[in-house]
Amino acid sequence: MIIILNVNIKSKNTKKIKRPKKLYKLSNFKNFLLILHLVMEEEKSRKRDRIIKGFSKLLKEDKLKAVSEYIENPGEFIALLKGFWYSDSEKQKQFDEFSENTISNFHIPYGVSPNVVINGKVYVVPMVIEESSVVAAASAAAKFWGDRGGFHAEVIDVQKVGQLHFCYKGDKETLKNLMPEIKEELLKSTKDITAKMEKRGGGILDIQLIDFTEKLKDYYQLRVTFNTCDSMGANFINSCLETFGHTLQDYFLRKGENVEIVMAILSNYTPECRVKVWVECPVYDLDHVDEHLDGQGFAEKFKKAVDIAHIDEYRATTHNKGIYNGIDAVVIATGNDFRATEAAGHAYASRNGHYESLSSCEITDGMFKFWLEVPIALGTVGGLTSLHPLAKESLELLGHPSAPELMMIAATMGLANNYAAVKSLTTKGIQQGHMKMHLANILNQLGATDEQKAAALVHFKDVTVTYAAVEEFLKNNG
Ligand code: MEV
Repeated sequence: MIIILNVNIKSKNTKKIKRPKKLYKLSNFKNFLLILHLVMEEEKSRKRDRIIKGFSKLLKEDKLKAVSEYIENPGEFIALLKGFWYSDSEKQKQFDEFSENTISNFHIPYGVSPNVVINGKVYVVPMVIEESSVVAAASAAAKFWGDRGGFHAEVIDVQKVGQLHFCYKGDKETLKNLMPEIKEELLKSTKDITAKMEKRGGGILDIQLIDFTEKLKDYYQLRVTFNTCDSMGANFINSCLETFGHTLQDYFLRKGENVEIVMAILSNYTPECRVKVWVECPVYDLDHVDEHLDGQGFAEKFKKAVDIAHIDEYRATTHNKGIYNGIDAVVIATGNDFRATEAAGHAYASRNGHYESLSSCEITDGMFKFWLEVPIALGTVGGLTSLHPLAKESLELLGHPSAPELMMIAATMGLANNYAAVKSLTTKGIQQGHMKMHLANILNQLGATDEQKAAALVHFKDVTVTYAAVEEFLKNNG
């Protein structure tokens, strides 16, 4: 017998996708069951293949319902996602409006690292991160360095960058000679936008013409530097650049010439918006960090690990990821853009022609010095920093820092996490700490009592943690 399957589903707001008909041969009962299974799988994948029309225009409840059709148990899914809505509808509305097509909230733990000493000032640093051990590692490093003079930090500069990309077919030398006049006109055209920023001490710092015609026919760029004071300044920079685009076009039109404005946008590469943070101590102050090595021995091994991250990009990527464990946690907690921060840092890590460590280590005349130099463009006013209720609280917890102060705090947590990771790697190894967390998670999953947890901590001190081993342990210690 031959059966033809062509089950198409269509519901409100979904579009049917035409699929080729499938032929199955039904010869015996086993084959029947197999076909039944295939029919069900086919049905499931048909559900997944649907295009939902006009999704963005649906009400939130209807969006959730439409999406739930992709799930095995829609009712459970809807209840779970609704369980993460705030009961205060005004508060929920605020979160919904940060983004689009929102159907729920996704929670990430908000922790703090207390007693962080930076330039003699003590901070309680908020850290938003889902990875276990990061806050514990940062806190332990903060305590360790707090007893050794704390972290030292300085902001090297705060310049941000924007670019107007354009093509011009006219004479190169003429364009270069016209630049002083063009600059004046560009600055005049943005007076309305820059007035407020100038009052706060910022504004447009410089406009440079960059000739890229050797690499791309007729392509030039205006590279513009800005000081956006305590704001991240993305809107300010982009508004100035788009106005520059219109002004440049008008300028050449008046001369009977054309420029093609390709695009106007800030650059997330901000090597001149950079901060340096460091720790230092005599090597004898590191005497008990490793149980097998004295301070000098530990310092040398630690430096070797950092040097490896300067010569090998595989290690450098993981090493720098450890730095961003700390930086991102602060950047997110304060409502800043962690993608921008990471992009700038990784580009900066490649500035010497190969990707390398962002931190460095030196041992000179018996002194151990470990530092991090990194671009971080942050804001402490405007944007999400003032809209997200927890970002606002984070900034209050930090004592309402200026943007440069926040740069120092975020970089410090990067160095703290980097120190903690490299210290663990070069001493006991990373798994010991992780396994403790892993054990705690398994014990929680298996519903262990407080007594069982305490006994398990002792038992698994020298025993490998696996799910089965913990289960067995609980069976024998019920
Ligand atoms: C894990 O999130 C971060 C580390 O891998 C960093 C490092 O290896 O330096 C531990």
